[in-house]
Amino acid sequence: LILDVASSGGNQSSSLLYGVLYEDIYHSGDGGLYGEMLRNRAFQGSSSGGAASLARNTDYWHPFGGATIAIDTSSPIISSSLPYQMRMDVPAGTKGTVGFYNEGFWGFDVDATKRYVASLYMRGNYSGTVNCYFQSNTTGQNLGLTSMSIDQTSSAGWVQSHSATFQPSQSGSNGNNTFYFTFDGSKLAGQSVYFNLLSLFKQTFNNRFNGVREDLADSLFNMNAKYIRLPGGNNMEGNNSPYEWKWNRTIGSLTDRPGRPGSWGDINTDGFGLLEMMQMAQDLGLEVILGIWAGLYLDGEVISEANLQPYKVSVMNELEFLLGDKSTTYGAQRAALGFPSPFPIKWIEIGNEDYLNGGTDSYYAYRFMTFYNAIHAVYPSINLVSTINPNPVTSKGSSLDLHIYGNENYFVSLFDTFDQASRKYPVFVNEYAATNTGSNNNGQVGAQTLGMSCAEAIFLLGCERNSDVIVGSAYGALIKNYNEAPNTVAVIKHTANEVLYTISYYVQKLFAEHMGTRTLPVTATNGGFGPVYWSATANSSSTILKLINYDGKTGSSNALQVNIKGSSKTSATLITLTAPSSKSVNNLPSLGGESSTITTTTLSGSAGSFSVSFSNPYEIAIL
Ligand code: AHR
Repeated sequence: LILDVASSGGNQSSSLLYGVLYEDIYHSGDGGLYGEMLRNRAFQGSSSGGAASLARNTDYWHPFGGATIAIDTSSPIISSSLPYQMRMDVPAGTKGTVGFYNEGFWGFDVDATKRYVASLYMRGNYSGTVNCYFQSNTTGQNLGLTSMSIDQTSSAGWVQSHSATFQPSQSGSNGNNTFYFTFDGSKLAGQSVYFNLLSLFKQTFNNRFNGVREDLADSLFNMNAKYIRLPGGNNMEGNNSPYEWKWNRTIGSLTDRPGRPGSWGDINTDGFGLLEMMQMAQDLGLEVILGIWAGLYLDGEVISEANLQPYKVSVMNELEFLLGDKSTTYGAQRAALGFPSPFPIKWIEIGNEDYLNGGTDSYYAYRFMTFYNAIHAVYPSINLVSTINPNPVTSKGSSLDLHIYGNENYFVSLFDTFDQASRKYPVFVNEYAATNTGSNNNGQVGAQTLGMSCAEAIFLLGCERNSDVIVGSAYGALIKNYNEAPNTVAVIKHTANEVLYTISYYVQKLFAEHMGTRTLPVTATNGGFGPVYWSATANSSSTILKLINYDGKTGSSNALQVNIKGSSKTSATLITLTAPSSKSVNNLPSLGGESSTITTTTLSGSAGSFSVSFSNPYEIAIL
């Protein structure tokens, strides 16, 4: 195979081509990116059994020292948003230490090099110390302690106390740790005391208050993505009325955030709210595609046209909150919450998968246009994205989001799917994933295999070759907790103390890192697409050729000849990504680690001509 890469003649590439989708799915937010380490910190509902519900309990909390704990609604409550609290009853005659501990989200990361701070709201009589510490379930050892001094009576109502910031005395040997709050039992004997909004944070990315987990944010940062779509996804829609994601219930004091049953089986605390998401996007340098709810619940209930007005008003208020200056009502509210400057938003997606459960007709009939007209009238330069193909309008500033899931073979077959696509309006593929191998159409494969990742990469080449019309792509889902069933695909999986970078993660990272500003035509001689696929782009300093071997030949006897037209270069950098077999997967560091490897070598050539050979039948190479 000979590939001649032209020096001109292609199209302008989208600068946003590689993005990410954030929604709270299987603990991407709570117990994931969101830095809160305590689970069920404010008794906002139940996540038991895979179905989020408003049933309140003290799950993930355990008493010790003879005390008992129970869910409680006695007055005064801390706020109407958090009407349930935890009561601790301490038997008369108690002399020793009493308290409770939290399980965390499948444990805690205890890192002696990092800073932590604990806090709680308490109601009741107590004058004494609260010791807060990590304990290893493996060794029983105390891994580091901090304390807070409390001196309050029940007449003071709810009082918030913070511990001193502390670094653990030693790191945990694994994530199997708990976190304790302990009290002098003799001072509480015969009494009941009440707790709400207990909290434990490790230092966050960029040291943000109420911010995000450092290691996971680093993972996102290192992907080099260009945009983030938030806050979802199905999670924005809500399973049923009235549980759509509501922006104004995710801002301000944490005591004023009621949370909601998420669509993916877990209660969302909404501690990771609109401003926290925007802050994270800003810190990561990501353009935001803001999702707004468009009147369809996942159970198929649709808001009628006559009743859509308040939802439209809510969206316009949200936009004023994000985009308005301080002279506007909601802009002033944002400024008062510590964000004086408006956020730049150029893209708004109207709904999510609005074809689901019978939503198509109403989307075309009035839902899309209601939001489109309202937003366009006030913010004419914002691009509005539809979720149904074909787009309801083709006027300027309107684009489309396609979601593509399927098996490995399907993704390979999509390589040329956009070659003949209409250029009437830009297209995002804001969700895609090969969810199982080519030979397995049933169920999802938990970790992406090399074969699946190569198939996704082939699909991405097709996006890149057509990046005059394909504006962006994002994998669904971005982050999930490794311990949370079901074991579905995600770019990154995490536990309390580890991160699993899938092979798909490395595909997206490498592709985003090596992307030109324009495409270049490639002419093939002695062969066509398959088993080798390619795409070429260029920027002012480099020509970049991406090659994928998919069940192809290896070795120098099967080398490709690459000729970069007009180049006099005698050396080129070759980056390869592969793994031992098409079924290879990456794993958590503690469970064997990564099977994939990335290799960088320098190729010698002459006058822009290079010989490239694959070492593996499934391999990604970037020249
Ligand atoms: O990415 C996971 C989910 O898949 C999204 O929430 C939804 O939009 C899609 O169906």
